[in-house]
Amino acid sequence: MTIEPTVATDEGATPRPPVSHAHDLRVVEVVAETADAMSIVFDVPESATAAFRYLPGQFLTIDIPTDRAGGAARSYSLSSSPHFETDLVITVKRTVGGYASNWLCDNIRPGSTLRVLTPAGRFTPPSLDDDVLLIGAGSGITPLMSIAKSVLIGGTGTVYLLYANRDRASTIFGRELTAMAAEFPTRFAVEHWFADERGLPTVDGLAAAVAPFASYDAFLCGPAPFMAAASSALTRVDVPPSHIHVEKYRSLDGNPFAGAVIVPTADGETSAHATVAIDGQLVELEWPRQTKLLDLLLANGYDAPYSCREGECSSCACTVRRGEVRMLRNETLVDADLRAGLTLACQAVPISDEVDIAFDQ
Ligand SMILES: Cc1cc2nc3c(=O)[nH]c(=O)nc-3n(C[C@H](O)[C@H](O)[C@H](O)COP(=O)(O)OP(=O)(O)OC[C@H]3O[C@@H](n4cnc5c(N)ncnc54)[C@H](O)[C@@H]3O)c2cc1C
Ligand code: FES
Repeated sequence: MTIEPTVATDEGATPRPPVSHAHDLRVVEVVAETADAMSIVFDVPESATAAFRYLPGQFLTIDIPTDRAGGAARSYSLSSSPHFETDLVITVKRTVGGYASNWLCDNIRPGSTLRVLTPAGRFTPPSLDDDVLLIGAGSGITPLMSIAKSVLIGGTGTVYLLYANRDRASTIFGRELTAMAAEFPTRFAVEHWFADERGLPTVDGLAAAVAPFASYDAFLCGPAPFMAAASSALTRVDVPPSHIHVEKYRSLDGNPFAGAVIVPTADGETSAHATVAIDGQLVELEWPRQTKLLDLLLANGYDAPYSCREGECSSCACTVRRGEVRMLRNETLVDADLRAGLTLACQAVPISDEVDIAFDQ
């Protein structure tokens, strides 16, 4: 059930309108990258510039038109760099038998408008001055391209890219990568791995290729079997797990564009009481036991961060300072995050009567 906000923060205060991070963005250009991949360039209106500031490696989530109940939302990494490109660019590769990627490639033209969530994601280097080892395959190049360009232009780090593809013709950004290597000969190198010449990447082959860069921070993105081989290769050359960053591509099942849902308290049930530090203010809210924290905040007009709303991306991560919550689903926080008190607002419901939360991530 989608309902109007039920709880005002301050007694007697006017209820705030519900918040959404969705914006309509106009496509200004479409660039054919290969036979089955294209880049979509968005113009960001001045009124939304602040909302669409992003970090290299982050992604947008797009509401793909469909007759299917629940919508078809899909995430696409930004291939542009926030350090020197003003337009936002995503790069989409057709998935065989897939709905959204083919719809975008078949239908989007300059002048089209798409409903888009603001940038999200934690697949981003902590410093552009650090050396980075980028390992990608196919459309996995997209966030890696943003990171590579950002380090080279916005920082001082060195970039080594290992990029696997079926063959030369299916290589996205082939020409740009050659140009980058010529422009930054001491700070950027790319090794292409064409499966038609060398076979599919193996753990042995990948380990040999990345061994000289084992002290770098590693960023991996590509199809699941490739990621598994690349992760094993990194472990084999002793890259510590804390230096391995992984972006997993998958299609969203839910609809992050849907309105916030407040589940009313059952008969005889009392709400919990939440104190939430968000956007520099301390907010007090009655928290119905079956309502997710993110929905509670959005429905009451508080601009909490989110992207997938299904426990996959950690954009909504926040810290439980006091009290106890439980997550209905968690596919992203690891044990160390949980020990540090992190939870996912999009999946958290209260257990204790009093809960203090801080959006400090
Ligand atoms: C953070 C993130 C960033 C991403 N960045 C990019 C990017 O930069 N570029 C990019 O191209 N992609 C990216 N993706 C992947 C993208 O979001 C989509 O998952 C991808 O485009 C496939 O979507 P689709 O709708 O075309 O395929 P889907 O319709 O979701 O299908 C996916 C696969 O499942 C199969 N399938 C679908 N329905 C069924 C069914 N009922 N039974 C059996 N099989 C089925 C299809 O045949 C297909 O092989 C990213 C994903 C994430 C999470
Ligand atoms: S919004 Fe993605 S995990 Fe919560």
